[in-house]
Amino acid sequence: MLTQTKAKARGLADLPPVASDSLLALIALCDADPRPEKIDVGVGVFRDAVGNTPILKVMKEAEQRLLDTQVTKAYLGSAGDKRFAELLRPILLGHHAGDKRILGLQTPGGCGALRLGFELIATVNPQARVLVGTPTWPNHPPIIRSVRLQQIDYPYYERGQGAIRFEDMITALENGEPGDVALLHGCCHNPTGADLSEEQWREVVRVVSERGLLPLIDIAYQGFGRGLDEDAYGVRLMLDACDEVIIAQSCDKNFSVYRDRVGSLWIKTAAVDSSKTAMAHVHQRAREMWSMPPDHGAAAVHIILDDEELSARWLVELAAMRDRINSVRQRIAAADPRLTFIGRQFGMFSMLPLSKEQVLKLRHDDAIYMADSGRFNVVGLGDDQIDRFTAAVIGALNS
Ligand SMILES: Cc1ncc(COP(=O)(O)O)c(C=O)c1O
Repeated sequence: MLTQTKAKARGLADLPPVASDSLLALIALCDADPRPEKIDVGVGVFRDAVGNTPILKVMKEAEQRLLDTQVTKAYLGSAGDKRFAELLRPILLGHHAGDKRILGLQTPGGCGALRLGFELIATVNPQARVLVGTPTWPNHPPIIRSVRLQQIDYPYYERGQGAIRFEDMITALENGEPGDVALLHGCCHNPTGADLSEEQWREVVRVVSERGLLPLIDIAYQGFGRGLDEDAYGVRLMLDACDEVIIAQSCDKNFSVYRDRVGSLWIKTAAVDSSKTAMAHVHQRAREMWSMPPDHGAAAVHIILDDEELSARWLVELAAMRDRINSVRQRIAAADPRLTFIGRQFGMFSMLPLSKEQVLKLRHDDAIYMADSGRFNVVGLGDDQIDRFTAAVIGALNS
């Protein structure tokens, strides 16, 4: 007869609750608000002048071509669509595109690339610490935790002045140990919009290479800031100076295919052979996690980039998104001297110097939904909402 064991095995019901993602919670709150005039600047996607996140026209056409011409959906392997990565090379790497020591593969979005990059770092050097300027994109810390690397924070941004704390950044990087990871935003810093100038990039690259840090550059918004090449300035400068570089790239914003999960990971080492070995590890990790990335979005991006006419049309649509971002920035900046910093920043996000109480009051009194930190999406605003938004923010700043 079986004796009953006293110790009860832990079951799924024993799992502790998970703190809800605050941005997802914000979306739910906004959705539930019945006020028709509500403004959602918490959202993390591009919106046009009337508040839509349209599929690019060129993307619709590429998808149609894909539908008409695709003859199989057989497995592609853990590298995904190899031609997609080849076509991205010149866009991301510029004059480094021909460097055979730089290898890339398709990933499920920028998140997949980040996770895979950190997996590789944890495989080669579990003692590496990750130097992170704060505030940063809220998904960076959990990804770093997921591979059990230690995160060391340093202050990146002075919210009151709308400026980068550049000296603190340089001091933190100078205090890094060789092999530590410098996590950097390639452009359009999320959540602050405060990008390094070219001169600041030169200084950061100098310290990273002199200290022997491993740079991991997260570039999720190429083309949303100053321009496609301009936004890759830091990536390319780092490649000029360092033998080892990791780049996590996303096409989800600049091709507006967010849910299709399109991204890529790039590895540079000092020699072709060591890059191939690093890539073999990356493939192994990818195989363990998602086996292979989803095809559809990357296949459509591949069609666009492989066709001169479609590529040219993509550049025009990308420029229109960038122009909208920058023109909304200028309108907000012109409304009050305390908001001029917004006109000097790049990408979809900036951070208002508001306390949590002020943010909650805007939510309650004006139906304006932004993150508790004061981060807001400048193109979350439709054209007809900008004046009401700036008036309410100025009211909050005066209070
Ligand atoms: C800074 C940053 N990195 C990476 C990503 C990941 O993008 P994806 O949707 O391609 O995973 C985002 C998306 O919001 C981001 O803001």
